Amino acid sequence: MERIAIYPGSFDPLTNGHIDIIERSLCIFDRVIVAVLKNPNKKGLFSVEERKELIRLSLPDMPNVEVDSFGGLLVDYAVQKNACAVIRGLRAVSDFEVEFQMAMMNRRLNKDVQAIFLMTGLRWIFTSSSVIKEAALFGGDVSSMVTPVVNERLLIKIASMQAGQ
Ligand code: PNS
Repeated sequence: MERIAIYPGSFDPLTNGHIDIIERSLCIFDRVIVAVLKNPNKKGLFSVEERKELIRLSLPDMPNVEVDSFGGLLVDYAVQKNACAVIRGLRAVSDFEVEFQMAMMNRRLNKDVQAIFLMTGLRWIFTSSSVIKEAALFGGDVSSMVTPVVNERLLIKIASMQAGQ
């Protein structure tokens, strides 16, 4: 039977740290579904459709990776996609507390969906979408932390935001 895992997140935008986790998860699972959360309460820099497009464009050589979006409960989405596990990346100890809480809540909601935590590669320990967005917004070079297409779209997005101000 095919082993499917969900890799959920905001991915606003995808970073090289996320790609590192996707590559690691493909050692364990036959198929990984990168699932962007549709959160009506949180407006991101990129729309959900833009985020999905950036993931697809950044991962053209990964046939076992599907890109999708979901709303509602993560465990319900996992069941709908026949996934047995949810993958989350862990950077520093500080990630653990919130991840542990989410994993325990998910287990309470559905005991059959397993939480798998993968350690991010050391070079991506300090990489996060929010830090990247903030640095890029103030003109910082983030090109070593994202794919070329994400970097390009970040610059375009920021320029159009600043032109509209
Ligand atoms: O990249 P993020 O923002 O840290 O991802 C958070 C995410 C999408 C994994 C989390 O917000 C989530 O699973 N949301 C779906 C709603 C849900 O199932 N909540 C119950 C568990 S706390």
